[in-house]
Amino acid sequence: MSAFVETANAKINLTLDVTGERPDGYHDLCMVMQSVTLCDTLQIMIREGTRLEVQTTNRYIPKNDKNLAAAAAVQYFRNAGIPRPGLSIFIEKNIPVCAGLGGGSSDGAAVLRVLNARYGALTSEQLLETGAQVGSDVPYCIAGGTMLAQGKGELLSALAPLPPCYVVICKPDFPISTPILFSKINCTKLRCRPDTGGMISALEEGDLSGVARRVYNVFEDVIEPKRREELKAIRTVMIDSGALGVSMSGTGPSMFGLFDRRESAEKAQKRLLKRYKESFLTRSV
Ligand code: C5P
Repeated sequence: MSAFVETANAKINLTLDVTGERPDGYHDLCMVMQSVTLCDTLQIMIREGTRLEVQTTNRYIPKNDKNLAAAAAVQYFRNAGIPRPGLSIFIEKNIPVCAGLGGGSSDGAAVLRVLNARYGALTSEQLLETGAQVGSDVPYCIAGGTMLAQGKGELLSALAPLPPCYVVICKPDFPISTPILFSKINCTKLRCRPDTGGMISALEEGDLSGVARRVYNVFEDVIEPKRREELKAIRTVMIDSGALGVSMSGTGPSMFGLFDRRESAEKAQKRLLKRYKESFLTRSV
């Protein structure tokens, strides 16, 4: 038996644009992604036999192959052409689920990193392809950092890192369905789009205010009005506390704010915690 411990970081979308519809029913995206210190911790044990079991500290997370950590393991051995051994995966879940923070994708990516470090059967490119078969955000989560992600999310290019800052994340309590939100987007009629080029330049210049000014997510516009009011209220708390910029992450509903001062970020988190227990003070990583 061999055992591994791996960290799975959450991600935020500094920008998220939907640029087209694809013949496969998916959408072409253009996103600037950033990983943060908020993370799950995975313990992965490779055993004798063929049993694949997943346990987590969150009872709402599936334990079958709908769990992206399990799906990633299955896909890894399939693509590697290696018979699957017994596997026990334990996930200490800290990243909110169904939150637009890439929690499930990051768990899947962590499993792929561990298995490829152990077996070395896939090239980096093949590992990213395997990730893409598991979920659209998995390729980015394998690498992490500051990245431009295009296509379905699998075309990655490294960007200059986000200047050091504090990131406050707040997940409101209402659920959002990613496929429904995608179906509401009409990418030819978007009123407003992120300035991705400007965002990339601001990153290159190490200009945190310029980055914060440009955070933008097209999905915020298609959230139903009542929910949008709630997101607006979260934004107001963050801005009043000193956030340089606030946006929604992924298909939501989590909001994040970028702060240059720790006291301001702590103030925002403290105020948000009064209403939202899933409010976090993190840093970019
Ligand atoms: O790939 P993943 O399972 O993460 O995608 C979840 C859903 O999000 C898909 O079923 C699809 O409806 C939508 N999606 C999309 N275009 C993308 C990524 C996801 O339409 N590039």
